[in-house]
Amino acid sequence: MSEHPYSHLIDLNDYPVEWWNKVISLGASIYAHPQRYVQACAGKIMATLFYEPSTRTQMSFQSAMIRLGGSIIGFDNPMSSSVSKGENIKDTTKVVSSYSDILIIRHPLAGTAKAAALTAECPVVNAGDGGHLHPTQTLTDLLTLKMEKGRLDHLTVGLCGDLLYGRTVHSLCKALSCYPDNKFVLISTPELQIPEYIIKILRDSGCEYRLESSLDEAIGDLDVLYMTRIQRERFASQAEYLAQKDVYRLTTEKMKRAKDDLVVLHPLPRVDEIEIAVDDDPRAMYFKQAKYGMYVRMALILRLLESEKPAALLRGVRRDDVCCVNPKCITAQEHYLPHQFTEIGGRTVCEFCEEAAVPAELTGAHR
Ligand code: NCD
Repeated sequence: MSEHPYSHLIDLNDYPVEWWNKVISLGASIYAHPQRYVQACAGKIMATLFYEPSTRTQMSFQSAMIRLGGSIIGFDNPMSSSVSKGENIKDTTKVVSSYSDILIIRHPLAGTAKAAALTAECPVVNAGDGGHLHPTQTLTDLLTLKMEKGRLDHLTVGLCGDLLYGRTVHSLCKALSCYPDNKFVLISTPELQIPEYIIKILRDSGCEYRLESSLDEAIGDLDVLYMTRIQRERFASQAEYLAQKDVYRLTTEKMKRAKDDLVVLHPLPRVDEIEIAVDDDPRAMYFKQAKYGMYVRMALILRLLESEKPAALLRGVRRDDVCCVNPKCITAQEHYLPHQFTEIGGRTVCEFCEEAAVPAELTGAHR
């Protein structure tokens, strides 16, 4: 494992659970006493590089830094930057990180935040890398559960919708599997089932889980219901998206079958998967969740700027006998990246996107 001079946040699981708990409790303290932190980042600059659309993640990061007394730079339309001239991730992040103290990046390809961190001159935060991970949404979800359920363990959590491409779901399952006695009900169509590597993580951590196709069947068992959007932009074709888009819909009728202390979360944006009338149900927590996101991001910025011992960045080894063939991996676009692979549960996976590697002789390529 290689050491790196800055504390990045690429994957929450790069840090121990105690580290997450500290960020969450700092987020709760800031929520209770925001005025104590108004100068905490005075003189610091945060850069946001958003290569994909965002409302909450980008604006909550920006307002977090402003509320800490810092300033912000960045783009949310890469076409108005030198990216439109063909600049690669390495050069953009190298330069922007030399202007700033912390860099927040979102990109449609898996592994981009890790790729950016390799050359950045400041801490890098993964604000969503394709269909892979979204660790700061998970911190948001954990703070919401801590505040609204009072605990992060002994919960029966239903996750519903796009479990295949939903990066928020992947990060949340990985995180909640590290707390004792959480149970998972994975509600999706067979086409949008959760990736095998996440199931493996649940199994290896000894968590109970079941795959379910009916929200009606599952809702009565749940302490937490995490609804997600069917993400049009992640499908290969419009026809595949249309076949999935209206399968799950949370309605006031369905809420009648749920526990009185259910908490309904959604990373947002909501499209049609939650009826608007559900918003008036006190168990609907998604707007409050979005607000907690700003406080937990304030805590995260503070934590990463205290230069503590950084987590390891690269975990794998260089190999030429296997390739990553995932077209949605950053290594498919940025060919200078190291050919690094790691082992997860006996499988060799790409260091950047965590998809299974393929023997090089089967592809004729050398990556
Ligand atoms: C999610 C994302 O971008 O992954 N939104 C968010 O960050 N709050 C979910 C989504 O876009 O559906």
